[in-house]
Formats: sequence, C-alpha cells, structure tokens
Amino acid sequence: MCGITGYIGHREAYPIVINGLKRLEYRGYDSAGVMLFDGQEMHLSKTKGKVADLESIISKSPDKKLGSIGIGHTRWATHGVPNDVNSHPHFSQSGDLVIVHNGIIENYDTLKKELIKRGYSFKSDTDTEVLVNLIEEVKKEENCKLGKAVQLALTQVVGAYAIAVFDKTKPNEIVVARLGSPIAIGIGKDFEEFFVASDASPFIEFTKDAIYLEDEEMAIIKLERGVKVRKIKDDSLVDAKIQELQLSLEQIEKGGYDHFMLKEIYEQPKAIIDTYRGRMLADEGIIKMAGIDDHIEKFLNADRIIIVACGTSWHAGLVGEYLFEDMARVPVEVEYASEFRYRNPIITSKDVVIAISQSGETADTLAAIKLAKSKGAFVFGVCNVVGSSIARETHAGAYTHAGPEIGVASTKAFTTQITILSLIALKLAKKRGTLSQTAFHMYLQELQLIPNKVERLLQIDDHVKEIAKVYKDATNCLYLGRGFNFPVALEGALKLKEISYIHAEGYPAAEMKHGPIALIDENMPVFVIATNKGHYEKIVSNVQEIKSRNGKIIAIVTEGDIVVKEIADHVIEIPDTEEALTPLLTTVPLQLLSYHIAVMLGKNVDQPRNLAKSVTVE
Ligand code: G6P
Repeated sequence: MCGITGYIGHREAYPIVINGLKRLEYRGYDSAGVMLFDGQEMHLSKTKGKVADLESIISKSPDKKLGSIGIGHTRWATHGVPNDVNSHPHFSQSGDLVIVHNGIIENYDTLKKELIKRGYSFKSDTDTEVLVNLIEEVKKEENCKLGKAVQLALTQVVGAYAIAVFDKTKPNEIVVARLGSPIAIGIGKDFEEFFVASDASPFIEFTKDAIYLEDEEMAIIKLERGVKVRKIKDDSLVDAKIQELQLSLEQIEKGGYDHFMLKEIYEQPKAIIDTYRGRMLADEGIIKMAGIDDHIEKFLNADRIIIVACGTSWHAGLVGEYLFEDMARVPVEVEYASEFRYRNPIITSKDVVIAISQSGETADTLAAIKLAKSKGAFVFGVCNVVGSSIARETHAGAYTHAGPEIGVASTKAFTTQITILSLIALKLAKKRGTLSQTAFHMYLQELQLIPNKVERLLQIDDHVKEIAKVYKDATNCLYLGRGFNFPVALEGALKLKEISYIHAEGYPAAEMKHGPIALIDENMPVFVIATNKGHYEKIVSNVQEIKSRNGKIIAIVTEGDIVVKEIADHVIEIPDTEEALTPLLTTVPLQLLSYHIAVMLGKNVDQPRNLAKSVTVE
C-alpha cells in the first residue's frame, strides 16, 4: 500500500507534494515524509503519524519547504514498525540518492546481507532502504547514470514496487518504476514540469495529461526533455500513451460533508444512475454492455462463473451469486481472491471469472486474475477506478462509474457493484431464456426506481442517528439476513467493525441457532434484515427467537410492515422493491448506522486504524 508523490518543475514543490500526500492518505496513514531539494541540498522531514503531523513539524522549519523538486510518501507499514526512522523517504548511504517506495521487496534480507558485506550499514528496518542502497551500489559498480542503475538493480529484486528515486548529483530528473503497485506521471505544459503519484488525484488541478506505467516499466522524467519509458527487463523503449484524465477536483473534495464516507453514502442515488446510464434502457427492455456483448458466447457457454474479490467487493460478489443463480440459472462460486490464488483451484477454459474490485489494485485479486488467465479462463473485471491494474489485466469488463471513493470504508462502490452484477445477471437471463419477458421488463423498471428509493432512505438519516445513539456503546453486535440479504448482513457487520472498532458478526439468520444464539442476552444488539419478500415467515421466527432471549432487535423492514414492528425494539423502514434488488436499499441504513456510531465514538471515520483503501500487498 502506501502513497507516493513527486514533483519536478518550476513551481514550489512543497505544497504540491504535501497536498498530494493528503489525497493519497487513503492508501496508508501511519507515517509520512517528504524530501525537498533546494538546488544545493536535500531536506528530509519525516514522522510517525499522519500527513497533518508532518505538516505541523515542517511549519516550524520553513527552509525545509524550499525547492522546486520534491518527493513524498504516506505509509502503511509492512517491514518495520511505524516510527520516524522507518518512515520514507530513505537516503542511500552516501546521501546522494533518495527514494520513496510502495510495495514489498521480498528478497530484501538476502540483498541486505550482500550489501552489508560490501560495507553498507542501515538505519531503518525497511526493505526500502535496502533498495536505495542496492541502486547506489549498482551505480557505483557499473559507473552508470541513475536510470540505468535503477533498471539493473530492479532486475535483482523479487517483490512489488512503485518507486520514485532522485539523485542530487543529477538534479534534473526523477526516475520511477512499477511492478504490482501503480504509478501515474502527470505531464505539465510544454514538458516544463512533471508530477508523479500513486494515482492522478495529487495533480489533477495542474494537468489532465498523464502516463500510467505498466508493470515492469520504468520512466526517466527529465526536465524540459520529457518522459522516456523503458522495459525494466531488457531496457527496450516503450511507446507510452498519454491519456486524458477524466477526474475533476470537485470529485475528490468533501463538498460540505464532514467526512468522505458520508458524502459517498449520499452520492449513491447518483452513482447508481451513473452505473446503469447508457447501459439500461428500461422502457425499451434493453441492456447494452459492450464488455458482455462482445464476449457473449463465453458467458453463454460457461460451465460456471467464479467470482473473485476481497472485502466489501467479495460481499458484492456474494450478492452476485444469488443474482446469477436465481435469474440466469448459471452455477456460481464466490471466492476470496487470497484463498483462490493459493489453493490450486480447478479452473478450465470453460470458466468465466468475474473479478470485482473498487480500486482495481488489490494485490490478491490481481494475482487471482493472473492465475485464472494462465489456466485459460475468460476474465471479466468489475472495477471503479478507470485504467487501474485490474481493469487492464482482464479480458473485458465494466466500470461501475461510481466516481472516486475516498473513505476507507467502502459504500457507493458496493451498491454500484451490485448494480452492475444485476445488469449482467439480467442480460444473461434474457439471453438464456431463464426469465420471462414480463419478469425481465419488471426488473428493469424496478432497477430504474432504485435511486429514488435510496434518496428517500437518506431522508430518514435522523431516525438512524437516534438508533445509533442507543447502541453506540455496545461491545458486540450481530447482523442477520437471509437469501439476498445474507451478504448485506456481512457487509453491515464489516462496516461497523471497520470504523467503530466494535466487534460485529454477520450471519445467515437461520444459522444463528448453530452458535451465535449463545451470545444473545439483554446487552446484545441484533440487526435483522427482515424485508417482506423471500423467507419472511422464517425470519420472523428468528426475530422471535432473539426476543425470547432478551436480545435487542433493530429490524430493517419493508414500509407498512406490522408483524416485525410489534416484536422489534426499533425498526427502519425501506421502500418496497423486488427481493433481488433489496440489497441496494437495505445496505444504506446499515452504512449510516455505522457512520453515526463511529462519529459519536470520536473515531477517525475516513481513516480507520490499521486499514487502507487500496491493499496492494498480500
Ligand atoms: C480494503 C478496503 C475495503 C475493500 C477491500 C477490497 O480492505 O479497506 O474497503 O473492500 O480492500 O478492495 P477493492 O479495491 O479490491 O474493492
């Protein structure tokens, strides 16, 4: 994980680098650092803590802000505890080179021992300091320039990296490289300035032109000369394409909300519309998705669909399983990417794999995709971040178009992923003839009404907040749901855990009696999704079972419900819709509930401890 930024040009580098780090804090936030080059000397500032802590330290030493070249880093610790010394950037032994790194060098120990033999000593416990010294050693040995030294050093490295390296003896260039972790290069007007970052958000107000490095590529960025992209393996030149960025500054700001998470919860009606816009023509009964249409035979001939994902995206995948099997009658397996990639799974060329990832950068999901491809499967990606590694690695795909999701706890990504999966399921159902025309049309009409219904749900936010007040001091919570809403129970529990640090478990409601029921007493809040479709009577029985053990019941019911309302301590009503689409609604109050509890407990909602938005390490 970790975020890196860099600037070389004619402006003051400090504000660009530090503001860039703030935008990249979703990638990690346990320590931060910057190096500024003032034309003579490199000035290093780094600390354990957040970018704001770094900023306040530097505010006391204005000379450390000077210069029009700089690199910066916000860290999510892998090797070495988060402390000042282990924070990036790291200098080489001579003090000439400086590096920031996102990723893990797996063979760092072997390399370190070799370097120690050659007289190097190390200040930190990081793999990164090993890498910068390796580059220095190669540069000395081969008597070559920085670019060549980086290339040769990286051929000795096993692991993943996105790096930016600067050499004060050649202060007109920054060298960057990538394998497994992203790097975007912003190109300023007339090649007079360049920006480097883990994604394009740090430089969006300066340029719309960017190059995204591919795996095993590096770039030498030279002032007034431009960017040369090369293959790390054989040093051959790459004809890198400059892409026009679609991102806007407004999209990555809070826009008046207290937290990104709240903004993103409230963006869901629009995000869902953006997801189906141009794809679903409800009145004509058409679903157009190029990624599916162009490969429809693969989907129709598939023996099964395997969905791979992590975290919240995995929960969306579980909803996908219910959708695909129910509507399109295709067998589906949903796998944690991290398990799938290492368990020697049976995959054939008759399998279609759907990889779901908000960031498009999750290391385990990426590895699962590569494995599936190597076995001949067709791999379809569902990503939010345009141009991300997963979007590029898959054979075809569909973007969710939810807009940037910055809060670490995923919200709009989840509902838009379910929207895409609903569209695919419906499309396949139509092609396979597993849904009647009437049902197909009815689903399209219903899906079209969902954004409006989410909007209505957002209006009961105050009611949800009142419930949050009652349960904010709970130490354990149980979330129950059946059928399509079983994954929503998992997701509701995950949201609470992630941002409030309250232990919560999601369970299929009927499984409660095989274990969790033992936990229920008068102190246990149980959130039950009990909408009026599907297995309503069965879930009513589950609610009774909780009641008779004095558990506190907070039920999500359909508007007009009478039965559960009588039993539950609190109810949250959702507008009526088709059972298969209820996850798009039932999720929303659970997101709001977790949000309010975390705020009331004074937690850092957008940057919960130990987590990161984009998990680029396994
Ligand atoms: C991290 C994030 C989660 C996310 C998961 C998968 O754990 O904190 O919010 O669901 O990664 O991320 P992806 O980008 O692949 O959806």
